[in-house]
Amino acid sequence: MTAAADTLKQRLTTNPTVGLIGLGYVGLPLAVAFAETGATVIGVDLDSRRVAAVRAGTSFIEDVPADVIARLVGAGRLSAHDDVGALKDADAIVICVPTPLGKSKEPDISFIVAAADAVAAIIRPGQLVVLESTTYPGTTQEILAPRFEAKGVVVGRDVFLAFSPERIDPGNKRWTLRDIPKVVGGVTESCRDLASALYARIAPQVVPVSGPQTAEMVKLFENTFRSVNIALVNEFAIMCRRLGISVWEVIGAASTKPFGFMPFYPGPGLGGHCLPSDPHYLSWKVRLEGYEPRFITFADEINRRMPEYVVHLVTDALNDRSRALRGARVLVLGVAYKAGVADVRDSPALEIIEGLSAKGALVEYHDPYVSSVLIGTRPMKSVAWDRAALASRDVVLVLTAHASYDWAAIVREAPLVIDTRNATGSLPPAPHVIRL
Ligand SMILES: NC(=O)c1ccc[n+]([C@@H]2O[C@H](COP(=O)([O-])OP(=O)(O)OC[C@H]3O[C@@H](n4cnc5c(N)ncnc54)[C@H](O)[C@@H]3O)[C@@H](O)[C@H]2O)c1
Repeated sequence: MTAAADTLKQRLTTNPTVGLIGLGYVGLPLAVAFAETGATVIGVDLDSRRVAAVRAGTSFIEDVPADVIARLVGAGRLSAHDDVGALKDADAIVICVPTPLGKSKEPDISFIVAAADAVAAIIRPGQLVVLESTTYPGTTQEILAPRFEAKGVVVGRDVFLAFSPERIDPGNKRWTLRDIPKVVGGVTESCRDLASALYARIAPQVVPVSGPQTAEMVKLFENTFRSVNIALVNEFAIMCRRLGISVWEVIGAASTKPFGFMPFYPGPGLGGHCLPSDPHYLSWKVRLEGYEPRFITFADEINRRMPEYVVHLVTDALNDRSRALRGARVLVLGVAYKAGVADVRDSPALEIIEGLSAKGALVEYHDPYVSSVLIGTRPMKSVAWDRAALASRDVVLVLTAHASYDWAAIVREAPLVIDTRNATGSLPPAPHVIRL
């Protein structure tokens, strides 16, 4: 280890200053976790509303209670800024910016590039930089390292660079940031050891791997694994319907096998910032190497057709009752891409509402977390889901199983329920309740 690395390790294991770039679903919980260990945390975000919210001690992420932010800000452990210049004295800088897809599903790493340029402008010997954003293998070494070295510092000697994928599952109370092991890949051994020392503060276990590319690939494997298995179970749901079998009963019984099986559940389609996008980062990269991935493409095709399948389910259910979709009053319950969060990025609900509306249905929605949403360019506001609302619609379409819904009341009051989440699964079967 160099002298710079020794000094930095000392700081990282005692009371470091940790900078976070991007205070979103990943960055804010991470900022709070580091601050809770006694580190001084400086958060930076380009979104002035997020900066103002943290400064005011309020929260915009469901998993992070406002009182915790207020306490940490009040104690001087957490601050928020809109300029990366605030991180010049930080011991460690963790980058958690978005990694969306471009129009042709190619990686859009412009946020990473902008963050890397901003860090390069202030980097000084004795700093550790970690990228957490999900991205294609090679990003850390090809995009970040050269930008820093162009400023005259040597990675592994003066400054230290690693990739550590974020594995947080927003809304998951059982597995929080503090319960999930952290995979770390450093450009050099010192980089890996220093990043491991940083994450040992908050993670139950640090899993070092041989380099950043491996760590980048680990995250893509995890999310591709989910995407492919969800596609498989979505296709099982379609096949089970054709054969008149309940896919939920099949999954429940198959899950009793104590080895070699892991349950995944069908739904109205993939959503959120990660699962619909991440596997394409890998596809893009391997295509450059002349390999055409098949599982990723196939899974994407099945998952992306689920919203359309749900529109067909609604149409068929009405048809079986001699009703047309055109003119039918549909109440959608849940537009967030999963239960317990307000995130509507890539939510299948948006496409389903658009698809139903395009066929003439009169669609409204309720979501306890999402007061308004844009369907294409059309703004919609959440409506009530009380007894009168349930009884007055032709169909109640369950797209997100938020915990606050009273499923028994929904089944009792609504004339027709289409449940894409098996939220009503514990209730007795009824002819007016159709499960995916
Ligand atoms: N959301 C999840 O569940 C999840 C889980 C694991 C990994 N990830 C990955 O983590 C990364 C971040 O995702 P997220 O959901 O937290 O995104 P997010 O959109 O919630 O937050 C990102 C934040 O970064 C800010 N930002 C963008 N460019 C910036 C810059 N140059 N300087 C400062 N701030 C900047 C944005 O304003 C935004 O507030 C992505 O790569 C994502 O794939 C997300």
